[in-house]
Amino acid sequence: MTYARIEIAPSILASNFARLGDEIKKVEEGDADVIHVDVMDGHFVPNISIGIPVVASLRKATRLPLDVHLMITNPELYIADFAKAGADYLTVHVETAFHLNRLVQSIKEHKGVKAAASLNPATPLTSLDYILPDLDMVLIMSVNPGFGGQAFIPSALDKIAKLRKRIDELGLKTEIEVDGGVNPDNAAAIIDAGADILVAGSAVFSKKDYAGAIRGIRGN
Ligand code: DX5
Ligand code: ZN
Repeated sequence: MTYARIEIAPSILASNFARLGDEIKKVEEGDADVIHVDVMDGHFVPNISIGIPVVASLRKATRLPLDVHLMITNPELYIADFAKAGADYLTVHVETAFHLNRLVQSIKEHKGVKAAASLNPATPLTSLDYILPDLDMVLIMSVNPGFGGQAFIPSALDKIAKLRKRIDELGLKTEIEVDGGVNPDNAAAIIDAGADILVAGSAVFSKKDYAGAIRGIRGN
């Protein structure tokens, strides 16, 4: 059986925002597959990061897909703006959605934008039971969202494996992305559990050699 290559999504939260264009170029040259963009509002998570204008600028700076991780309350108010700004993936947290189905459908109304839902570490997989077939991607949080540089929470591995099994049983193409504390030491276990896309912030941007760091996480 041949497996698709694992994709690496550097999280720009750990990059130097004063030189964002150069940082993106460097990870692009380092063979990154996706750019992960963490949007934080100071309400859903205890931190504030970046928003729509930055996504619009990034769109002009890279041809890589922009994976926009919305850690915000009332995400329904901003879906159209982020889609227009150039997001390729829009990820909403199930914990922020009164009407997850409606929210996912509203993402899919934007042609070419992939719809994803994310689960906090303590949120059960069953919250996706009636939405999984509609999702292009599930983002499993392996840290409590809000900050880069935290340690990987081991129970995420079991969650990833169970989700992989469910997706395969249902014959879905839904991708599994894992975010938080990913590094070269735990990447193989995360890939074995069934992840398709690994987000890595500090494991890439705290290193001098981004290309080497990305290779190290990919495992080749
Ligand atoms: C955490 C963010 C992550 C973060 C990952 O709330 O969603 O994307 O940037 O950073 P590392 O890889 O350093 O844990
Ligand atoms: Zn993220």
